[in-house]
Amino acid sequence: MQTLFENTRLFRANPDHPTVEEDMAVLVEDGIIAWVGQQEAIPQDRLNKPERRDLGGHLLTPGLIDCHTHIVWGGTREEEFVRRAAGASYEEILRQGGGILSTVRETRRADAGELFENALPRLEQFRQQGVTTIEAKSGYGLTFEDEMKILEVIRDLDEKSSIELVPTLLGAHAVPPEFKSNRGAYVDLVCEKMIPEAEGRGLAMAVDVFCERGAFTLEETRRIFEAAHHSGFHFKVHAEQLTHTGAAQLAGEMGALSADHLEHLDDAGVEAMRQGRSVAVLLPGAMLTLGTQRPPVEKLRAAGVPIAISTDCNPGSSHTTNLHLMMSLGAIMLGMTAEEIMLSVTHNAAKALGLDERLGRIEEGLEADLCVWNCRSLAAIPYGLGENLVMHSYKKGRMLT
Ligand code: NIG
Ligand code: FE
Repeated sequence: MQTLFENTRLFRANPDHPTVEEDMAVLVEDGIIAWVGQQEAIPQDRLNKPERRDLGGHLLTPGLIDCHTHIVWGGTREEEFVRRAAGASYEEILRQGGGILSTVRETRRADAGELFENALPRLEQFRQQGVTTIEAKSGYGLTFEDEMKILEVIRDLDEKSSIELVPTLLGAHAVPPEFKSNRGAYVDLVCEKMIPEAEGRGLAMAVDVFCERGAFTLEETRRIFEAAHHSGFHFKVHAEQLTHTGAAQLAGEMGALSADHLEHLDDAGVEAMRQGRSVAVLLPGAMLTLGTQRPPVEKLRAAGVPIAISTDCNPGSSHTTNLHLMMSLGAIMLGMTAEEIMLSVTHNAAKALGLDERLGRIEEGLEADLCVWNCRSLAAIPYGLGENLVMHSYKKGRMLT
């Protein structure tokens, strides 16, 4: 099965040459990108009655990747949202047993079928935006059974939906109330039961930790990273979001795939992330919702740390599936260029998932996850705030949108 995309402006998401190329063509064969080049150089001898798609000069990019979501949860937090609007702080609400912990109560109550049904419309919204892959974290169960229940729901969503879901175990999202006076025992549970079970059953690709005042300490984070590494998992961390903890530095030093949020990132953190080749995942939806300060984008850029942008889709700090709005905010709040923004939701996002050899670029041998846009320049994409200019998307060569 061949498809030939012709007459396109192409952004390959090659980080070494992040430019749009004119008059390009892409040949897809059995879901894989088989050839990329100038329209006039199409290898006629390799064509085997391909389906032809003339894109009329429209932009073609890799399918979008959202590399940080918490899409499986029960309940809703609109009451908390308005309380925060009236001045209550996110940390204060969490300390009082609300915030993440209120979603935990609702998620524990819900069975797998209900959580699956709740998540489906969110996936549908991603699909309509040309998103072909999302990462999905557990983290609202915080018991062995409930964390596994969420990972099973993520597995089922991956099987049943056209979007690919990449599962992450976030057992260390908050210390559950029943372990408040014995938090070490909860870290033991994460390290000694959840991580080995997720590994044994193939339920996760990575392990995440919320390292923050009121959540997990740097030492606890190190322990969890070590356990993750021991089980052959990638690991990542919610780092430097509300306060500086040193988590980004630890992430870089230990070779984490990414450190995410980073509003309070310091120079040592930037340098460690550069050396450790960790991706900086920036989450403007959470910045906007919680009113946090801007991460040091210029320093990350100067150090050559790859930057990804994601929705952080969750019921508390970033209640959105709108990756297009996050791209707009990438320009407005983070000062990123149109090229940086497109890289941040393609190649760099794939890198944050450890999947950049398979996804995220339009190069021979990679999977044919593609997006056709109703525009001719990259700048048009963030220009309309949250506007969806996607005409068609493809996952492994199959049309999704
Ligand atoms: O990425 N920071 C911690 N975790 C989520 C928020 C989860 C919630 O508020 O429910 C985040 O912002
Ligand atoms: Fe998050």
